[in-house]
Amino acid sequence: MKVLVIGSGGREHAVCAQFLKSSKISKVYCAPGNGGISQAAEIVNIGVSDFNELAGFVIENNIDFTFVGPEVPLAQGIVDFFEAKNLKIVGPAQAASRLESSKIYSKEFMRKYDIPTAEYRNFSNTEEALKFLDTWEENKKAVVKADGLAAGKGVYMCSGRQDAKDAVKQMMNDKVLGEAGSNVVIEEFIDGPELSYLVFTDGESFSVMPASQDHKRVNDNDEGPNTGGMGAYAPAPLATEKLTSIIKKDIIERVIKGIKSEKLQYKGVLYVGIIMNGDKPYVLEFNCRFGDPETQAVLPLLKTDFTDICMAIVDKKLGGLQIEWENKFAVCVVLASGGYPGKYESGYEIKGLDDIKGEDNMAFHAGTKIEDGKIATSGGRVLGITSMAGDIKSAIDKAYENVKKVSFKNMHYRKDIAGKAI
Ligand code: GLY
Repeated sequence: MKVLVIGSGGREHAVCAQFLKSSKISKVYCAPGNGGISQAAEIVNIGVSDFNELAGFVIENNIDFTFVGPEVPLAQGIVDFFEAKNLKIVGPAQAASRLESSKIYSKEFMRKYDIPTAEYRNFSNTEEALKFLDTWEENKKAVVKADGLAAGKGVYMCSGRQDAKDAVKQMMNDKVLGEAGSNVVIEEFIDGPELSYLVFTDGESFSVMPASQDHKRVNDNDEGPNTGGMGAYAPAPLATEKLTSIIKKDIIERVIKGIKSEKLQYKGVLYVGIIMNGDKPYVLEFNCRFGDPETQAVLPLLKTDFTDICMAIVDKKLGGLQIEWENKFAVCVVLASGGYPGKYESGYEIKGLDDIKGEDNMAFHAGTKIEDGKIATSGGRVLGITSMAGDIKSAIDKAYENVKKVSFKNMHYRKDIAGKAI
């Protein structure tokens, strides 16, 4: 079979790597991909939102199915577009993608299906949002979320009433996030550890992947500004069997029930972001796709052929598939351009990648390009260095040994990825 992967980050490189090792796949295409992906798969120079061109390419090249990485084309309806042309595609339809693309929809879905989440109110009018915040305790923390997609920048953690009012004004009046912030959710702040549960689903059945933990802040000890994620590890020891069974029963089964009741078509990956409220798991957010960098730690642990999973999802036969995982731990350390998530420079040559060897060690490319025949930096998050081992400490040590082999100017990474696990 031939497959097209849509996207250009470390997540898509990890997805391509699964297809490249699948016995069912003869050719992997990636649109638009990146420098590192171009060394393994055939790059297609079409943007993720150019549906007509993407579908045309799939038809012209007899590609059997398409896998969608990022949220933007899903929210724009790529699945509906491809299916209208009878093309097989893995991902939720546009209406189901609203679980990620509208925070208001997502919170109302949770309320309707009794899924534990922080108390909230939503607003489409600035004055009403500010009036509501007049009743907020002066020093009580709040979370203000833009309703729409904001490339990971749509959540403001606010220290109290005034901070929350400022966030509302910035989003709703000043439009700092464009139309994404025209409507907002204001919710109670929960302070607790977070877990990412990635779930394969065909809308009827589901299969939960090993739980992982992201590291959102740019510096060690969770300091500095939020990023797209500076590293991840899986399985996270916090996700005990008991906790996972509670999450399945009280959260994931209710989501699937909701998907069925609302007649949503969901054939893809559901990301359930959990925050622990004391000993109770609450949903922080849903995403309608694989998480990044979590996928760079989770997918390498997959034993089952990824193509079989994708086909079972597309054919709505996931319930009949036994999905197996390695009995190992995986740690992914993100190497970023110094200055990220703020201003950074790129175009710097990356050295040492050939020294990362062995099937338990990999370098997933996120922001790289090929320049004069050499690999160079081209983004904020540049690489995800993943290592696997039989215990978490060895996986951490191996990942950092590999990190030390790689270098580029202004390289920045956290030194404490997965430290929480031990
Ligand atoms: N790691 C968080 C996300 O993918 O949205």
